[in-house]
Amino acid sequence: MSLENSQLPSPLGRGVGGKGYKMSSDAMKKRAAEAALQYVEENTVIGVGTGSTVNYFIDALVRLKYPIEGAVSSSSMTTERLKACRIPVLDLNGAGPLPLYVDGADEVDRHLRMIKGGGGALTREKIAAAASEKFICIADQSKLVDVLGAFPLPVEVIPMARSYVGRELLKRGGQPVLRENFITDNGNLILDVYNLHILEPAQLEAEWNNIPGIVTVGLFAQRPADVLLLGTADGVQTIRL
Ligand code: 5RP
Repeated sequence: MSLENSQLPSPLGRGVGGKGYKMSSDAMKKRAAEAALQYVEENTVIGVGTGSTVNYFIDALVRLKYPIEGAVSSSSMTTERLKACRIPVLDLNGAGPLPLYVDGADEVDRHLRMIKGGGGALTREKIAAAASEKFICIADQSKLVDVLGAFPLPVEVIPMARSYVGRELLKRGGQPVLRENFITDNGNLILDVYNLHILEPAQLEAEWNNIPGIVTVGLFAQRPADVLLLGTADGVQTIRL
């Protein structure tokens, strides 16, 4: 793992923006998102994730000085925004391997393993990430954690398996809570699993993926990000595997 700073770090101040940071988390998300533009190459297809940080990335794409072929979207929400920005939305099946995937995270550790799915798009996000050569995670500094699990782990579940999967997750020490009034783009449910302290993320991802009825576990550890662009009050920190 290597770590670079685009600006020298300084102690974080307290002030506006909540969570004790001297800059709002939205401004830090925007910084990270705009820094991801440097990885976008001319006339290529980009995989685009979902969420408020990614929305800043889509807005920044519009200001690129050169054309891109289009984007593969990870959700209906992202598709709408891409279309509103007149960026062609392409089907992954026709696009082939993607050179680049850009997405946010709910939590990320220093090994660039992530919890994702706060927006409920985890399954398509995981497919797009798997189909991409480079995965750039963009996030504000509040997302960086030592151990994954304080953020409830989203798990996408086939509706008929909801209760069975819930019992299985309880046996494994989690506290699954059904996400109210939410259906994924794939017609499934989300269980948000509390009470986790995930010391072996890749192992847990593999084990839970094997429970019948689970479509996707929102742990991205078997395929972590390649680069993390972390927006901070002092600039953008780049962490590479
Ligand atoms: C959506 C996701 C998002 O990347 C994650 O929820 C972070 O969102 P935001 O950028 O709004 O903080 O996984 O399914």
